[in-house]
Amino acid sequence: MKSSLILATTLLAAAPNVLCNPIARAFNTTFSNATNSTTANATQILQFALTLEHLENAFYSQGLSNFSESDFENAGLPSSARGRFEQIAQHESTHVDFLTNALGNDSVAACNYSFPSTDPNSFAALSGILESVGNAAYLGAAVDLTNDTTALKAAASILSTEARHASWVYSSVLGSDPWSGAFDTPLDGDLVYTLASSFIVSCPESNPALPFTAFPSLNVSGSGNSSFGNSSSGNSSVNSTYAPAPGNNVTLSYDNSTAGENAQFLAFLSGLNTTFANISSDKQVAIPNNLQGLVFAVVTTNDTSVSNGSIVAGPATLFFPFSPNSTNANVTDM
Ligand SMILES: *[C@@H]1O[C@H](CO)[C@@H](O)[C@H](O)[C@H]1NC(C)=O
Ligand SMILES: *[C@@H]1O[C@H](CO)[C@@H](O)[C@H](O)[C@H]1NC(C)=O
Ligand SMILES: *[C@@H]1O[C@H](CO)[C@@H](O)[C@H](O)[C@H]1NC(C)=O
Ligand SMILES: *[C@@H]1O[C@H](CO)[C@@H](O)[C@H](O)[C@H]1NC(C)=O
Ligand SMILES: *[C@@H]1O[C@H](CO)[C@@H](O)[C@H](O)[C@H]1NC(C)=O
Ligand SMILES: *[C@@H]1O[C@H](CO)[C@@H](O)[C@H](O)[C@H]1NC(C)=O
Ligand SMILES: *[C@@H]1O[C@H](CO)[C@@H](O)[C@H](O)[C@H]1NC(C)=O
Ligand SMILES: *[C@@H]1O[C@H](CO)[C@@H](O)[C@H](O)[C@H]1NC(C)=O
Ligand SMILES: *[C@@H]1O[C@H](CO)[C@@H](O)[C@H](O)[C@H]1NC(C)=O
Ligand SMILES: *[C@@H]1O[C@H](CO)[C@@H](O)[C@H](O)[C@H]1NC(C)=O
Ligand SMILES: *[C@@H]1O[C@H](CO)[C@@H](O)[C@H](O)[C@H]1NC(C)=O
Ligand SMILES: *[C@@H]1O[C@H](CO)[C@@H](O)[C@H](O)[C@H]1NC(C)=O
Repeated sequence: MKSSLILATTLLAAAPNVLCNPIARAFNTTFSNATNSTTANATQILQFALTLEHLENAFYSQGLSNFSESDFENAGLPSSARGRFEQIAQHESTHVDFLTNALGNDSVAACNYSFPSTDPNSFAALSGILESVGNAAYLGAAVDLTNDTTALKAAASILSTEARHASWVYSSVLGSDPWSGAFDTPLDGDLVYTLASSFIVSCPESNPALPFTAFPSLNVSGSGNSSFGNSSSGNSSVNSTYAPAPGNNVTLSYDNSTAGENAQFLAFLSGLNTTFANISSDKQVAIPNNLQGLVFAVVTTNDTSVSNGSIVAGPATLFFPFSPNSTNANVTDM
């Protein structure tokens, strides 16, 4: 597919290394072990949503102030791309205003961010990730909004808008797949927090603590056969997306010191399904078949169930492109 995708992911991988301690840098907060992410109330969920919308809003306003329409055209992107990104930027700004208004005195302020995008292609690639993670975050948080139907309806309305953004970015801008399957993937607050906090440098001290904890980062690398990763040495972390080939082995990099001697597995969160694969002693994993589109991977100590207590590291974002002619959920047809 498009060589611009290779460029995009290569440049994404060249992110500034300012992210070594995401938790401390992001929210400068000590988190209580007692809460984990299961006890958030509606106010906290909306505060988290506003935190993510601030991040997206800053991402688009920074990117669009850096890149002109001719920058987009010179980067080989459709000439209409910048205008559409302007519209997306306005949506995110509107989401910030909406949630700020809804939260009133409980609002959280914008933070300082560091985004690795250096050109229109890496900007578009990160846009696809942020919109997809936003989508997964609203999906995962819906269960915590069941006592507040007004907030739930607003969150669902934002969710579907972000899904449209992601579809447009992946299909029209990046020349890849508009969807992943029949079901999108919900992500728990801690997993979203892990991904988001890597882009946050510092937040105002007046912001309340959020009841989420980031997991250690997970990097997946190996040879990839596809357009969405660097074809010779693909790499996935919170700031890039990597497309390994089904059946190939990948190598993981993560801090396993908290897992003790427990066996470790790589869990692929895909739609409402989770697929588990064994991790060998040298941290190799054979990529299973039947993964399609955007998939989140976490290292766990349990090969039947993923929970906060069993997650060792991650998520990493993986992307499995599939042909327009392929059978749904069957990447071997490529
Ligand atoms: C982002 O990418 C850079 C370059 O590959 C890497 O050094 C850094 O650790 C990545 N960030 C995270 C949190 O993985
Ligand atoms: C966290 O905030 C305290 C003040 O409350 C400050 O002294 C410290 O430098 C901050 N740490 C980080 C990592 O930003
Ligand atoms: C969280 O748990 C760890 C290990 O059990 C402990 O060392 C740490 O002090 C706890 N942190 C808080 C804020 O309770
Ligand atoms: C939500 O939880 C926070 C933190 O425990 C608490 O301060 C706040 O009062 C709660 N809000 C509601 C509406 O329950
Ligand atoms: C909804 O409210 C009920 C009754 O107050 C409470 O028991 C339950 O935990 C709440 N659920 C959520 C998701 O906040
Ligand atoms: C943790 O990683 C180290 C270095 O890769 C390895 O020697 C060790 O066996 C791993 N521990 C577990 C429990 O997988
Ligand atoms: C889960 O995966 C199985 C096997 O690949 C597939 O048959 C099933 O349709 C999937 N279910 C969902 C909800 O995606
Ligand atoms: C691929 O990974 C599996 C563990 O999932 C391991 O058993 C196998 O030896 C690896 N194969 C190669 C060629 O490294
Ligand atoms: C994995 O999780 C399931 C569901 O919580 C539990 O029943 C099982 O004992 C766990 N297995 C291990 C090895 O921890
Ligand atoms: C919270 O998550 C940690 C692992 O991140 C786990 O060890 C702990 O048991 C969990 N605590 C509760 C109360 O669920
Ligand atoms: C899809 O299938 C048709 C008919 O077999 C073929 O002509 C076309 O080239 C295929 N398209 C792709 C993208 O593989
Ligand atoms: C995927 O396609 C291959 C080859 O067409 C077939 O053998 C396999 O059974 C299919 N798998 C699923 C889950 O449909």
